[in-house]
Amino acid sequence: MTSKKIRQKYLDFFKDRGHAIIPSASVMPDNDSSTLFISSGMQPLIPYLLGEKHPAGTSLVNSQKSFRAEDITEVGDNRHITFFEMLGNLSLGGYFKKEQLPWIFEFLTAELGLDIGRLYATVFRGDADIGVDKDKESVEILKNIFKNKGLVAKDLDFSERDGLRGGRIFYYPAGKNWWSRSGVPANMPPGEPGGPDSEIFYDLGADLKKHENSPWAGEPCHVNCDCGRFIEIANSVFMEFKKTASGFEKLKQQNVDFGGGLERITMVAQGVDNIFETDLFSNIINGISRLSGKKYRDNMKEFEIIADHLRAVTFIMGDDKGIAPANTGQGYLVRRLIRRAIRYGRQLGITDDLWTKEIAKTVAHDYQEIYPELGRNINKVIELLKEEEAKFSKTLEQGLKELEKMKPKFISAVGVGSLSAKSGI
Ligand code: SER
Repeated sequence: MTSKKIRQKYLDFFKDRGHAIIPSASVMPDNDSSTLFISSGMQPLIPYLLGEKHPAGTSLVNSQKSFRAEDITEVGDNRHITFFEMLGNLSLGGYFKKEQLPWIFEFLTAELGLDIGRLYATVFRGDADIGVDKDKESVEILKNIFKNKGLVAKDLDFSERDGLRGGRIFYYPAGKNWWSRSGVPANMPPGEPGGPDSEIFYDLGADLKKHENSPWAGEPCHVNCDCGRFIEIANSVFMEFKKTASGFEKLKQQNVDFGGGLERITMVAQGVDNIFETDLFSNIINGISRLSGKKYRDNMKEFEIIADHLRAVTFIMGDDKGIAPANTGQGYLVRRLIRRAIRYGRQLGITDDLWTKEIAKTVAHDYQEIYPELGRNINKVIELLKEEEAKFSKTLEQGLKELEKMKPKFISAVGVGSLSAKSGI
């Protein structure tokens, strides 16, 4: 099933269940200083989660352009990317847990064909300090979902030491199963909405973990650990609380904020264990291969960093409110992404001048049907990339010249053998 079909199926599935399909908001936040870029589907809709009436009604669905800067250095494993499409459905005081959880399992299993035996769920274990109970209500609903598919789902407290123990549903603390823009309850400022969540994990298979080079080989594992065996593909947040000066109070309405990354969902639906092997990236990866003359399989990390970073900056600079590379704030991140991509391109031996625009053109070509702004703004993106690439080349040349000038001094100070051994010059 193509990613295009998966995105459309998701929108249609929720449309058939009374949701209005709304367009993605800009990836640049509007009146929201909590993050540099929109990093989740609910963020542009905060006023409606707090009670304002949305013109399209109380049930909404979309695919939101999102960017998470904190994942820049994680790119190059099988699952992290900076820019992603967040498939999201929202209930603004309408349906709640007993509709949301069965719907999302139905979408994943009946619509996408995922094997329920590979799905695991997590819920919030409760916290007396903030007056929020263990989420037994979700557990009852989840047990029934599994039971209807012929599986007995055992619920257990998660344990870092004792492994899975035949469990299917696990209770986790707020660090894993509470969601707000600012994270755990203690970090939320007064007025911020948040709530417990229930995540779904897909089991990619124990072989990944047992791989002889894995630092996790032989370690017990739990579904939300970092060993690579399980991947989170869906998160239903039951956003019914608001932080106050002294604790928490219930919001006027019970909301559902669901989010699942299209790239991860596509990965498991297409039966691969790496996001960059999905059809969302195939033209981009082929483009890098053409430019470098190298194979993806032999240079996965470099290919993945280039593909992720140039896709991200094409979306950020190609947004109707897009921004240019700069030395501070959002523009600094754009600069960092472009320069990292160029650096890894050099490692791959890409010698073409001003090559990054070729990848941007591929991104615009692949995505403009869904995000028409990319077609409208691609010429601006190309110009910005050309400028930035020329600037960076100049900086690199100057740096190399400086280094050349310094070399004789270095060599006399530390001796040739010691210098080459220590620095690789
Ligand atoms: N806001 C939640 C998340 O980003 C669910 O959409 O995971």
